Amino acid sequence: MRSAPSALAESDALELLTHGSIEVQGRMATASNATLYARVDWQGISGECIYKPVAGERPLWDFPPGTLGKREVAAYHVSVASGWDLVPPTVWRAGPFGPGSVQLWVPALPDNGLIDVVAPAEVPPGWLGVLQAEGRRGEPVLLVHADDVRLARLAVLDAVIDNADRKAGHVLRTAQDRVWGVDHGVSFNVEPKLRTVLWGFGGAPLPAEATGVLRALSRELAGEAQGALAPALAQLLSPPEVSRTRERVDELLTSGAFPLPAGHGPVIPWPPW
Ligand SMILES: Nc1ncnc2c1ncn2[C@@H]1O[C@H](COP(=O)(O)OP(=O)(O)O)[C@@H](O)[C@H]1O
Ligand SMILES: [Mg+2]
Repeated sequence: MRSAPSALAESDALELLTHGSIEVQGRMATASNATLYARVDWQGISGECIYKPVAGERPLWDFPPGTLGKREVAAYHVSVASGWDLVPPTVWRAGPFGPGSVQLWVPALPDNGLIDVVAPAEVPPGWLGVLQAEGRRGEPVLLVHADDVRLARLAVLDAVIDNADRKAGHVLRTAQDRVWGVDHGVSFNVEPKLRTVLWGFGGAPLPAEATGVLRALSRELAGEAQGALAPALAQLLSPPEVSRTRERVDELLTSGAFPLPAGHGPVIPWPPW
């Protein structure tokens, strides 16, 4: 049985999110869009969720308007198809401020403990360097992350969906030591936009388990295997965006390595937290 980031089974979480009554409690202070924290109740089950109504989207020059929430849901479907379950259950539905994405809330620790900015002499053993920068007093500092299989899986997912916003704050870790990725609203562009704090993996061979996962995704997206992914993406993304997703999967299989920054503009999300 798949498990969601709460005590609920994934199927129950999806029912709750799809059919529950949503009561908005507040707005996430750090969010750039109307990202609403809400309670959701249905048939005696209750939970918390993040509701992003289309009406609250801040328009972006490089993404078609009104599509960010659908990209959140599309990322969830890729995560399910990968079998890695990296994205909390996310659905598209009507809500108190109109249609939008609704994602199960992850009870996250204040710091994921997997990504940090440290002095060069203080890099934890085995951690991977991303970027050298200057601290407030001009001293050298390094952006680093753990060489952790859960981050590696997230980096593969990001390469598949072309995530333009993998900040440290979008990597959530629970007290049960599960790692979840959130905020996939700026993904699936037809243009390369991968922007991430996980470049420490860049150029390294993909983990062995990724090959099977990517092959399965490729077969599904090519229509050679029947699954829920292709029909879901067809509902949520444009045909060129779906084709590009399949191409990115095939490019990863061909190279066998994590992508490297490709000179397509800023490659580190700003701020990185
Ligand atoms: N499903 C979730 N569970 C727990 N916290 C979340 C979830 N989704 C988002 N958050 C928190 O809310 C913050 C803002 O949400 P985010 O999706 O990044 O919104 P925006 O698209 O406006 O940047 C995130 O940085 C994260 O701390
Ligand atoms: Mg965000």
